[in-house]
Amino acid sequence: MSKCLLKIKIALIFLVVLSAMMYSCKKENTAIVKDYYSPESLAGSASFPIGTAYDPAVGVNDTAYERIVNSQFNSITSENDFKMYVIWPNGPGTDLNFTKADEVYEYSKQNNKRMHGHVLSWYVYEQTCSWISGFNGSNAEFETIYKNYVQTVVAKYKGKLSSWDVLNEAILDVVDITGNISIPTNGFQLRNDFHKRFLGNNYIYKLFKWTEEIEPNVDLFYNDYNLEIFPPKLDKVLEVLDDAKRQGAKIDGIGFQAHIVLPRITTYQTYFNAFKKVADKGYKVHIAELDIPVNGPLGLKTKPDLSDFSRQKTYYETIVKAYIDAVPPQLRFGITVWGASDKYSWYKQVPFWLFNKNDWPSLYDGSLNQKPAYFGFRDELKRSL
Ligand code: XIL
Repeated sequence: MSKCLLKIKIALIFLVVLSAMMYSCKKENTAIVKDYYSPESLAGSASFPIGTAYDPAVGVNDTAYERIVNSQFNSITSENDFKMYVIWPNGPGTDLNFTKADEVYEYSKQNNKRMHGHVLSWYVYEQTCSWISGFNGSNAEFETIYKNYVQTVVAKYKGKLSSWDVLNEAILDVVDITGNISIPTNGFQLRNDFHKRFLGNNYIYKLFKWTEEIEPNVDLFYNDYNLEIFPPKLDKVLEVLDDAKRQGAKIDGIGFQAHIVLPRITTYQTYFNAFKKVADKGYKVHIAELDIPVNGPLGLKTKPDLSDFSRQKTYYETIVKAYIDAVPPQLRFGITVWGASDKYSWYKQVPFWLFNKNDWPSLYDGSLNQKPAYFGFRDELKRSL
């Protein structure tokens, strides 16, 4: 009998130890794993996560690039593979394909990085997923299909991601050929896109609600561009998000894409005010897709020089400084750059870039060397420690 009791005791102790180990492993996967990184790396220099866009198809045979992503960043955002045009380009009647999304997720898991899901819904899908532009069923049919898509994707990664960009770029603005932004004649409005057409004016509420129903425990973000630079657009975003929240949506944070397109570079004070306005409302703040090119759409440089790179360094420093000054630690979701190097930057594909195929927007250059911007960015991050 006492032998049996002893066995039960041992088994109980074993169970307690095992579950404590499992708990700490689980925590480890979601915590900021700053301490795994060299104090001279980007991730090791900040008290909040530092991320990059990640695409397994990019730099796949480039071990130097992989080494940079592995050693400098403790958070990743899938660059494209969680978008509908990859998962479900042909829509109803076809299967969802998670092959590429899984690759990104597996990479984040194996390398102990936080993973931010990007993006559940985006008006651009209307161009990239022809089934949406060709849809001729009723609004109710569309809603059933779309809700099912969103919830299936969220369910597939339930408990695995830290967060989701639920919706991208809902507000229509006017950006002219020189890159200047202005308020549309009738004021800022929700885009007249498939969301509004099929799901109605309260579609923001619906998207966040559907996501929360499946995944109540992760941070849900709204993500947009020019918010850091153009206050009237940010105000409109806050208005529509407040509205969705009043209806009962859970919205935890705002992603400032921060594709700082020259000549729309702005001041410390403008960034500071934008981040503070959002933080004061209790939202987490994510600088979600940061990059700062040298030329902008009309720039003529075909080869940047040291003065371009030193200007770029100042621009990077300014936005990081404003972020740290304006956002209290508990609301700092992190800073994510949109790719680590000029070698693989998305600017090489941007079709509206007139004169240059590359605009050198990143922290590492085309040969994967650290640029002045890298050091400026990193040294400003250290102020958060
Ligand atoms: C971009 C990717 O970097 C490109 O590879 C792709 O061709 C188009 O999309 N805002 C966003 C990101 O929210 O998803 C976009 O990413 C860049 C603009």
